Amino acid sequence: MSASLIDGKALAAKVKSQLVESVAQVKAERGFPPGIAVVRVGEDPASKIYVTSKKKTAEELGFGSWEHALPATTTQAELLDWVRRLNADPKVDGILVQLPLPKHIDSNAVLLAIDPAKDVDGFHPCNAGSLFQGRPALAPCTPSGVMRMLEEISFSPAGKKAVVVGRSNIVGRPMAALLINASATVTVCHSKSDVAHEVRQADVVVAAVGISGLIKGEWVKPGSVVIDVGMNRGPDGKLSGDVEFAAAKERAGWITPVPGGVGPMTIAMLMSNTVQAAGPNCGRAKR
Ligand code: GUN
Repeated sequence: MSASLIDGKALAAKVKSQLVESVAQVKAERGFPPGIAVVRVGEDPASKIYVTSKKKTAEELGFGSWEHALPATTTQAELLDWVRRLNADPKVDGILVQLPLPKHIDSNAVLLAIDPAKDVDGFHPCNAGSLFQGRPALAPCTPSGVMRMLEEISFSPAGKKAVVVGRSNIVGRPMAALLINASATVTVCHSKSDVAHEVRQADVVVAAVGISGLIKGEWVKPGSVVIDVGMNRGPDGKLSGDVEFAAAKERAGWITPVPGGVGPMTIAMLMSNTVQAAGPNCGRAKR
């Protein structure tokens, strides 16, 4: 048996097309569209590519879209001033400070300064806490994209065994929270875990560790769903995931490719979060 592929590129396009109506509605109601401001500090080449892509997608959807490219010498106080200005700007519904920040800036202090109602990354402890308590929240984009993929293949996590490999604040932890909220039985693995043992029992595996091929194909439970969040660039410049794709594909029921799997979903869900942030629930919470 060979797994069916989950096409993240196609699904991301569908998610974006489904936002068009909500964008028009926001615009009709208040006279201006959802708006996102992306702040980038320094010259990290990967960050430049991500930010350009986020801005382009926002413009395609007719959002207000602002990119603030600040020099690497920007001080923490200056960056905090930017965040405060964007918090106060009514045209800005979503604020994203691209990570990583230069070493002289405390990322945590910056993320804490973002108005939780404009925190379209879902990284503020208020949103992380609300998500963990099963309350409405802006949820991080990559794990939200994974949930959207599961929905698309009609995989209901309720009562299923889900194994999340990786415990980062950006993917692993919020992924576990979303799966708990969807009534899965969730195990989170990390460097001290017996990953093989856990993965062998998983109905759905989400791999988010950043180590190419860490998840062996032979561990995959036949018929299960394998979601690979890994984006590892090899010495040859080729992208690979955290899962041994060819071998896993022979056992899984569904699997995401790398590239073209989870990656495109992240930006689509960022746009979805921005529309959510422009809506009445987040709007009321704004400072
Ligand atoms: N750097 C890499 N991925 C992300 C992301 O999703 N959000 C932000 N703010 N920075 C990132």
